[in-house]
Amino acid sequence: MSKTRKQAPAQAATGVAPGGGDGAAGDRAAPAGVSRRRLLGTAGAAGATGLVLGAGGGAAGYAATRPEEPTALTTVGATEAMFHGKHQPGITTPLQARGHLVAFDLVAGAGRKEAAALLRRWSAVAKELMAGRPVAGAPDGPGHDTGIALDAGPSSLTVTFGFGRTFFARTGLTDRLPAALDPLPAFSADALDAKRSNGDLWVQIGADDALVAFHALRALQKEAAGTARVRWQMNGFNRTPGATARPMTARNLMGQIDGTGNPKPSEEDFDRRVFVPASPGKPQEWMEDGSYAVVRRIRMLLDDWEKLPVERQERVIGRRKADGAPLSGGTETTEMDLDKAGPDGRLVIPDNAHARISSPEENGGAAMLRRPFSYHDGSTEDGAPDAGLLFICWQADPFRGFVPVQRKLDRGDALSPFLRHEASGVFAVPGGAAEGEYVGQRLLES
Ligand code: HEM
Repeated sequence: MSKTRKQAPAQAATGVAPGGGDGAAGDRAAPAGVSRRRLLGTAGAAGATGLVLGAGGGAAGYAATRPEEPTALTTVGATEAMFHGKHQPGITTPLQARGHLVAFDLVAGAGRKEAAALLRRWSAVAKELMAGRPVAGAPDGPGHDTGIALDAGPSSLTVTFGFGRTFFARTGLTDRLPAALDPLPAFSADALDAKRSNGDLWVQIGADDALVAFHALRALQKEAAGTARVRWQMNGFNRTPGATARPMTARNLMGQIDGTGNPKPSEEDFDRRVFVPASPGKPQEWMEDGSYAVVRRIRMLLDDWEKLPVERQERVIGRRKADGAPLSGGTETTEMDLDKAGPDGRLVIPDNAHARISSPEENGGAAMLRRPFSYHDGSTEDGAPDAGLLFICWQADPFRGFVPVQRKLDRGDALSPFLRHEASGVFAVPGGAAEGEYVGQRLLES
């Protein structure tokens, strides 16, 4: 869930957000969710002048800001995702422009008590940062704010925490280990690097500003010192909000519109597919309203892919490249007609097309919410681009979502020859923390 701090029409006219004020800001209040301290800083320097939010966003917003006026936050900077809620943020939140995925292992000697203290600290830091506030703390303490994100607002920052299978043995909680965290089967397309796979703890950071994302990463990493150390880190990106004329489904590094077939929160069975239901008395009772994330670093063999003419690329997926419409016709949102044949009698969406093979219709209803980031880490030793998809999918049970679909793709998907799965992890991502609670408390204090 996220809210964009757009001005109400009355505020837009005056440029002043409603509410009481204090100190240098006079009778002006920070727009809800925008760091009061940050605004006080700028308003203080400017005196009691009007506070203008850059609802138009982008370069125009900045160009219009004269030095003597308080700095405007664009809608990108001012958009805030909520930390507290039924589900953790970063699952149904719109894709952000920047992402960091980080897995941590508990250090020797750290057990349940230390892990609980870490999750408590992490939750407190995530809550502050997601609201666009600096982290509090002594200048030389772990909570000392580095200043990296000053001026940028919350920028849709989300922080999402998960537990890997190995976490449970290390914390003496094996009786709470959900069956959904059973190791994934091996797939023929796998070329997995164990050092970049799995991990005791997993943190997903997303933000529409790269500095805000890095700032959060540093803060969370510093809080982990002495309790957990980084096992692996992956950095990803998506298109910047506002870069397209209208909001649209993202493209991946193969150039395809990617995400069309995702279950939608408005659909009746969305929650059942994505979130874990109540299971009183069962080992995974603590996972109610949580979700399981399957994370795969999938390298794209772009040199091979880019040699294919566009028509061949489209037959590999079963959708048009330009607008994502199914080859059976219509627009991006038209349902695929999997039975439609062309004049030559052949299926227009080929038998081995990726979108056909992965569709719920072909997998006994199995579905997942795909919410990836692209990545680019330079070149491999043979000079090929080390680029692809940090594939993250969310489901109530990976063995009814990711696993059956990947098994099927593995057997004969036209896309698989252009992909290498290089790292893998499955994480139990508990439900959102209620006010006063920290993420994972229901597991760690049960
Ligand atoms: C780099 C790897 C991949 C790329 C480039 C890719 C690309 C795409 C594209 C372009 C579509 C069609 C548009 C859409 O519905 O989003 C699609 C659909 C889909 N993909 Fe992938 N995909 C990849 C890996 C995977 C994997 C590993 C899985 C799961 C095991 C998967 C599951 C799906 C599903 C469930 C759909 C929607 C099918 C439907 O309901 O119509 N994909 N993918």
